[in-house]
Amino acid sequence: MAAHNSTVLITGASSGLGEEFARQYAQRGHRLVLVARRLDRLEALAETLCQQYRIEVLIEQVDLSNIAAVTELHARLAQRGIEVDVLINNAGHGLQGPFLDSQLDIASLTAMTHLFGQDMNA
Ligand SMILES: NC(=O)c1ccc[n+]([C@@H]2O[C@H](COP(=O)([O-])OP(=O)(O)OC[C@H]3O[C@@H](n4cnc5c(N)ncnc54)[C@H](OP(=O)(O)O)[C@@H]3O)[C@@H](O)[C@H]2O)c1
Repeated sequence: MAAHNSTVLITGASSGLGEEFARQYAQRGHRLVLVARRLDRLEALAETLCQQYRIEVLIEQVDLSNIAAVTELHARLAQRGIEVDVLINNAGHGLQGPFLDSQLDIASLTAMTHLFGQDMNA
């Protein structure tokens, strides 16, 4: 379990399992970075969690199937001095369907893990 004051980044936080991860980490008092494409849903969730649990919630509207956008997200957070302690690589479609459509589940997930993992290692 993450330390009480750690920062948790959750991809695909606008619905389903990602939204539930966000609620559970919020309940435990963590600072959250919520990432997905649907900004309205991220905004609504952030407002609810801030009010309910008095935590800090940052939202990032990012299409993670674009690797450049993953790199930009990492750079933006670094620029703001935000260190991610826990990375929940939740966004994805599952490994069904054609390999050529699996950028989000393979390449983006690998890029997220590599970029934020290097920071954690350092
Ligand atoms: N539910 C299950 O039974 C189950 C079982 C095994 C594995 N999983 C895996 O668990 C994860 C979550 O499943 P779920 O059922 O909660 O799915 P879901 O309700 O469809 O949620 C998927 C989340 O990923 C986000 N997302 C999708 N494409 C994205 C993109 N290109 N960039 C950024 N965010 C993106 C969606 O947000 P936006 O549309 O707002 O971007 C949404 O928040 C998936 O990786 C799935 O493969 C689920």
